[in-house]
Amino acid sequence: MPLVTTTEMFKKAYEGGYAIGAFNINNMEVIQGIIEAGAETRSPLILQVSKGARDYAKTIYLRKLMEAACTETDLPIAFHLDHGDSFELCKDCVDNGFTSVMIDASHYSFEENIAITKQVVEYAHDHGVVVEAELGKLAGIEEHVVSDTHQFTDPDEVEEFVSRTGVDSLAIAIGTSHGAYKFKGKAELRFDILEEVSKRLPNFPIVLHGASSVPQEFVELIDKYGGNVKGAQGVPEDLLRKAASMAVCKINIDSDIRLAITASIRKHFAEHPEHFDPRQYLKPARAAVKDMVKRKIINVLGSDGKA
Ligand code: G3H
Ligand code: 13P
Ligand code: ZN
Repeated sequence: MPLVTTTEMFKKAYEGGYAIGAFNINNMEVIQGIIEAGAETRSPLILQVSKGARDYAKTIYLRKLMEAACTETDLPIAFHLDHGDSFELCKDCVDNGFTSVMIDASHYSFEENIAITKQVVEYAHDHGVVVEAELGKLAGIEEHVVSDTHQFTDPDEVEEFVSRTGVDSLAIAIGTSHGAYKFKGKAELRFDILEEVSKRLPNFPIVLHGASSVPQEFVELIDKYGGNVKGAQGVPEDLLRKAASMAVCKINIDSDIRLAITASIRKHFAEHPEHFDPRQYLKPARAAVKDMVKRKIINVLGSDGKA
């Protein structure tokens, strides 16, 4: 099945009280693991490419891998640019087979964010591509921008932002953050802000970035086999499930996949120090990606059986 936009999947997710997982891809094994998980659970999928992924793998390789994946499955799959930081980057992705782009101008002023987002929306919509934008700032690391504090989304700004830009979905800051070290103490999300935003934007898809759960068994496995990710902590799965049952239609997950791969490879080498054929450790790593994505689909997103 050819790649699709997120329009139909978000409409169904909003009405059905679930969310679609947007998983970051960097190589073939990650793509295959995600697609296998989607196929086994019959879940729609969003596969997304960051600027870092473009630099690492080259977009053409990732796009061709996506095309290959689409010949193997009838699942609805969207191909999304994660954290596009300029009109030029978004345009390049629109011109090169992406079905969805994010313009992240959240570090600019409100007016500048509107101006850049509007420019991307006009170009993307002319080419049948949908656009995600962001209001508010997440704490943590975001494409080399580091911030210690959350700048929560102001619900008073969302209606004006969406109506002036024509954007298709909106990422908001309610306490999630990028990476594997999200909370120093108690993990909390501002559901009051999410509720207020969804009152101002009825039937409008909301996006959560920085939504890995960092399951502690993976932290312990990495530790056990010689790594050190002590103190890593994510967003509890039940909080994400609650968000998915509300207006959140897209949940971004990258760090959990990284942890699954690293735990698998560390374990593999501890048990098989004599192995040096990459297929010997990448095969279980790919299976670990699949298991992690299935876990997300079933425990967090609720998108199983919705394809
Ligand atoms: O939001 C960031 C994603 O986790 C992508 O990370 O820029 O290291 O590829 P990256
Ligand atoms: P995590 O670091 O929590 O996986 O978030 C990924 C993300 O938001 C990608 O845009
Ligand atoms: Zn993000």
